[in-house]
Amino acid sequence: MKVGHPSREHLMSLISKSISNTSYRAVFLLCLSYSLPHWCLAKSQLDLPSLKKLRSMNGINPAPYDQFWARWKLVTTRHRKDNGEQRFVYANKIAYDAMKKGSLNFPRGSVFGKLAFKTVSDPQFPNSYEPSNFTRMQLMVKDAEKFKPTDGWSYYIYVDGKNHSPKQDHSKNLACHACHTLVKERDFVFSAPTFLSSMGELYSDIGDTFRSKFRRHRSQDLSAFEKKIVSLLNINPKYVMIKRMRLFSGSLYESIGPLAKYVNESGEVYLIVDPVKKRFLAAEKQSRSNSKCYMGGALIYLSYYKKGEFSVKRGHVCDGKNQWVGSTKLPKEFMNRHWSHTID
Ligand code: HEC
Repeated sequence: MKVGHPSREHLMSLISKSISNTSYRAVFLLCLSYSLPHWCLAKSQLDLPSLKKLRSMNGINPAPYDQFWARWKLVTTRHRKDNGEQRFVYANKIAYDAMKKGSLNFPRGSVFGKLAFKTVSDPQFPNSYEPSNFTRMQLMVKDAEKFKPTDGWSYYIYVDGKNHSPKQDHSKNLACHACHTLVKERDFVFSAPTFLSSMGELYSDIGDTFRSKFRRHRSQDLSAFEKKIVSLLNINPKYVMIKRMRLFSGSLYESIGPLAKYVNESGEVYLIVDPVKKRFLAAEKQSRSNSKCYMGGALIYLSYYKKGEFSVKRGHVCDGKNQWVGSTKLPKEFMNRHWSHTID
């Protein structure tokens, strides 16, 4: 379905039935003209999917949650400084009622839905950013029995106008859950309810931060794979802050912002690594002399696969924004499957 982009007939009936205010009428009529002005265009790009038409994934049939954004309570919004995305998180009645009671064990049937949009500056008021293109829809459904292996939650994603291949469903589910395990103490839910003020405080006190999940390891004690990763850095650190977890490529991009921040604050090397799938994101402090960043930025190294080749992208982060400067194919030995590994 298209938000704010009703058919011409619907618009005409709206105009004739209920719009008496002449300035609104002028806006609607302008939207009907062929040279679409900005405010018609921006709204028409919020193409949200019909959940009734999407396939099931990881035991979740999305159809009953169709248009959740118009029916459920808004829990909170989040803004991502690195990619400019605006996100909206909604909870169904079961989940919201649990949040109201302060329960941190969501009952069976709890569902969270998240929508993400790119943002654009409003030309009428340029420092106000409004949602523009819809990018993704994600769901989390609770059923302690059915989804036991992932601690009672299952995950659904629809991104860039499509579902991924069903073959990837299981690995995505594990990867989603791996990151949500960072907030295990809040029953794997990141969002704190903004509009239940007392609850907000409760939530912010629960659980450890992402940063506290990293452990300091001596470089000499690292696994063979981790040593290889560290050899890509400019410096040869004595210690590395590591979080070993299941990752998919999206999680690496998601983690650039936090890692750059920790590196900047501590000067230490930070690394998140999936020793099973052989994925990683490493960050080290960029020396002030070769940085355009006033406070010194972070250098980042992000692994990716393309056409069966394993490569690393290099970039730097300044003021929360990252820029890629190049990429290199990694030698075959990086993919050695026989290296032993541990997951935290
Ligand atoms: C690298 C970490 C990470 C990964 C991987 C991840 N998430 Fe999340 N998720 C978050 C964060 C942080 C939030 C809080 C809202 C935000 O920043 O968008 C969140 C919020 C959510 C929410 C709203 C409920 C809540 O916990 O706040 C849903 C639903 C969700 N994610 C689904 C998914 C799905 C589905 C996947 C896998 C395709 C996934 N997530 C993978 C970090 C992650």
